[in-house]
Parts: sequence; structure tokens; C-alpha cells
Amino acid sequence: MHIFSDILQIQNHLFKLKSERTIIGLVPTMGALHEGHSSLIKKSKLENDFTVVSIFVNPTQFDDSNDLLTYPSDIDNDINLLKSISDDIILFNPDSHEIYSGEIKSDHFNLNGLDKHMEGEYRLNHFQGVATVVNKLLSIVIPDNIYFGEKDFQQLRIIENLVSEKKLKTKVVRCETFRYADGLALSSRNNKLSFSSKKIATNLFKALNFAKEKFNTLDTFEIEKKVMEYLSSFPEIKLEYFVIADEETLETPILKENHKYRAFIAANVSGVRLIDNIKLY
Ligand code: PAF
Repeated sequence: MHIFSDILQIQNHLFKLKSERTIIGLVPTMGALHEGHSSLIKKSKLENDFTVVSIFVNPTQFDDSNDLLTYPSDIDNDINLLKSISDDIILFNPDSHEIYSGEIKSDHFNLNGLDKHMEGEYRLNHFQGVATVVNKLLSIVIPDNIYFGEKDFQQLRIIENLVSEKKLKTKVVRCETFRYADGLALSSRNNKLSFSSKKIATNLFKALNFAKEKFNTLDTFEIEKKVMEYLSSFPEIKLEYFVIADEETLETPILKENHKYRAFIAANVSGVRLIDNIKLY
């Protein structure tokens, strides 16, 4: 496996590969890799000649310094997991000074209002930070394809918007959320949950499924109300939001024909912030 922490070195390596007309996939991550990441990496490996996996815990997307400090990280474990997938993965593992050569701060992007809802309301400047780092990674790697999980659907839409605003040739590939058999979506933050909290967290997925079942028969206000009532019966769950929103604009609907909708949820479960969503079509 090739491991780079230096921008010029990875660019030289990629330059050689690209001169042989190879197709490059990029899977951006913040490490603490799990099966959800593996599924993105495996998809990229199938669809590209070479896959770059970046591991970088991006400081500008954290609005809470404690969240940044306690974000799970285990690079040796990550490298072992990557090796178990394939020996020809290219790992890019820079430090903050390499990515942010001057001051560590976000650039400003026109996110066309996609950052105004849900996560944007609870995590100030989070998406400007995400857009900043993904934009930097895109300009370093210049991949043909970039892979994002649908669990962070708002993030995915924001990156699609970024790529289209900047008229980049890179294709953004949507990857379905990877779940345990009980429905809990895989997330690096699950590492912070105890066994019993993980069980309680499955109620977020149950709430999303309820919305899916009732979407065609109850109005959205009624669904949201019932979900809030249901989740309030678990003292460990502190709901931040549960909304049904247009998949394209992320706005909460007046429902329109031929539009696609999703239900989105964010909650603190035993003090760990989790997000999830489900398509309603
Ligand atoms: O989803 C993540 O892990 C991060 O937000 C990303 C896309 C790697 C940017 O830091």
C-alpha cells in the first residue's frame, strides 16, 4: 500500500498513474474506518483503476472543540483494515498544516441554501468546513469519481452542489447507507456508544421506517408529531430534529408531484450525536 502525507508526493504519484490513462476514485474519510467505509472503498475499487482513501480529521467542520478532541481515531487499525481490502489502495493521511498551509479556517462557498436546514441549524459553519476540505482534496487528487455515503445525505447534496457550481469533471457517486441487521447505521461515532445505548439507538431507524410506512397515508405534520411522541418515551434519546424534506432542495415540503422526499433525524443518544435518514419512495 502507498501511504502519503505530503501533497506534492501524492500528486507526483498520481501524475504518473494518470499519464497511463488510469481512472482514479477518491473516498474521503476522517478515519476510524468501519464496514460502511469499506463498502465505499470496495465500490470505488470496482469502478476505478486506483482508489485513493484520504484520512483527515478536518478541524474546520467541528463547531465544538470537545467533539474534535474526542473524535475517534486509530490510524494503525485503519491501515490494517485498508490492507485487508487491498494492497493497492493509496492512502493520503496529511496533517492540518499540510492541508491548511496558513491559518486553519474555512473558505466561503455558495451552498445555494442547502446548508440552511437540519445540520446547518445545529452545527454552525459545519458545511463551509466540509466544502473547504473536500474542495482541497478534489484539487489535490483530481479524481474521476468521488464516493459519499447517503447517511450524511445533506453533506452529499452539498458536495454535489459544489462540484456542479465549480463545473468539475469529477462524478459524485452516492452510496447506500450501510446498516447492522438491527437497522443502526454504521458511524464512527457508534464507537462511543455502550452495547445498551446501541440498542436504544435503533429506535431512530424505527422512527424513520414509521415515516416511510405512513408517508402516503398521513400528512407530514402528523408523522412528525407521532415520531416525536414515540421518541420522547426514551429518556436516553434527546431528539434534535425529525423532518421530512425534499431530497433535492432539502426544504421541508409543501409536497409536490414528481419530487422525491426523505425523512431526516438527528438525536443525542446517551450523549452521542447520531444522524440518519431514509428515502420515502
Ligand atoms: O463524512 C466525513 O467523514 C467528512 O465530513 C468528510 C467528507 C471526510 C470531510 O471531512
